[in-house]
Amino acid sequence: MSLTLALGGLVGGLAGLQLYQAGRQRADRSLFYLGRSLAEERALSRAAGVDLARFAVLAQRVVWGVLQPDLIRVDVAAASQRLCTELPDFFGSHLVAAFAERAHGRPDAADQALGRARALLAARPAEDPFAYVMPTPAEWASEPPSPHLEEIVPDQIWRVSAYYTHGLCPFHEFAYATLIRRPSGQLILINPVDMPPELHARVAQLGPVSHLVIPLKFHNLFIAGAQRAFPAAQTIGVAGHRKNPPSAHLHLDAVLDDRAPLFPGELEQLQLGGHQFEETVFFHPATSTLILHDLLFGSQPGVPGYSFWWRLYCFVFGVHDGFAIPSYQPMLWTNVLALRHSVARMLAWRPERALVAHAPAAALATGAHQRLERACAWITQLGPADYAVLVGAYFRQQPGFLRDLLRYLVRQGL
Ligand SMILES: [Fe+2]
Repeated sequence: MSLTLALGGLVGGLAGLQLYQAGRQRADRSLFYLGRSLAEERALSRAAGVDLARFAVLAQRVVWGVLQPDLIRVDVAAASQRLCTELPDFFGSHLVAAFAERAHGRPDAADQALGRARALLAARPAEDPFAYVMPTPAEWASEPPSPHLEEIVPDQIWRVSAYYTHGLCPFHEFAYATLIRRPSGQLILINPVDMPPELHARVAQLGPVSHLVIPLKFHNLFIAGAQRAFPAAQTIGVAGHRKNPPSAHLHLDAVLDDRAPLFPGELEQLQLGGHQFEETVFFHPATSTLILHDLLFGSQPGVPGYSFWWRLYCFVFGVHDGFAIPSYQPMLWTNVLALRHSVARMLAWRPERALVAHAPAAALATGAHQRLERACAWITQLGPADYAVLVGAYFRQQPGFLRDLLRYLVRQGL
């Protein structure tokens, strides 16, 4: 009995020590700018003239409350007012409020809030590091850029852009599809998007599309349209598409499985384990190109091609001046050891170029490996205790998200 007690005490003590060490490490890491230190977050806060952690806590509820009303039960008007009352001198508070007003069909109130954001920015003594988030007049008028086909690597890789509205978001979301020409001449279309007839005709001139690959659970808006546009192509999804209500009714010819690679020797594939997204990333060795979708987000001042909505979303979820994991993602991880193993394998490809679904190709056209390391190598150091402390700290700041996550998991059948 005493031996059992002693062993139990030892195990408990070791676990406590691990949590203590993880807590100390966490204390040095930013919770809202993942991959950055707390010192970096504080420097950014000083440059912006606001406590960015507090801004994130308040603004995240507003933005997700608008975008995910089925999941996030929040009084958006009250949350928005609280943001502007607590942080009245930060332009970002009023910009987020303007977004919420537009989403709820109050354009005059939205214009007023945007005007306050502009006035606060104009009164800043120095250029605000987040000034690039502000919408252009065309973006504020919800005028989408024209979709286009872009050749990334001559005769081998192309991308097609798409701008679309979805749900209550009053501004255009954007994403890219990637086309890869196989040695056989057939085309693989990864992450299909809607294409107007002229782009569809241009794609058809490049070759026959043999495969539509939907690389993660949540990119399901355009599957049915792509199947109609390319009826001869096989559709390859992920296992989660068959359970997720928006895609459960769609026909899939197969699901991605690392044990049976789709294109051995041509295109390597790797499912990111331990993540609700069920994302598979791809590596095209002939061109040293990594293709990924939602693991990482990018937002960069001076790099055109990010939509206003995207810049705002990244602003609120801690992605700034580069690529990073948005701050809500860790709560969607299901097995940190599996994820860190996957991320390490992905980084081991050492890609020269990366094509990210919600970023222009120019963002990571060269030297991608080093910038991906900066964005997500920290995950490869994360143990279960670190993860528990990280997510626990996030939920302490955002207790409502814990309730929302549980509701989501119940809906997904856990
Ligand atoms: Fe996405």
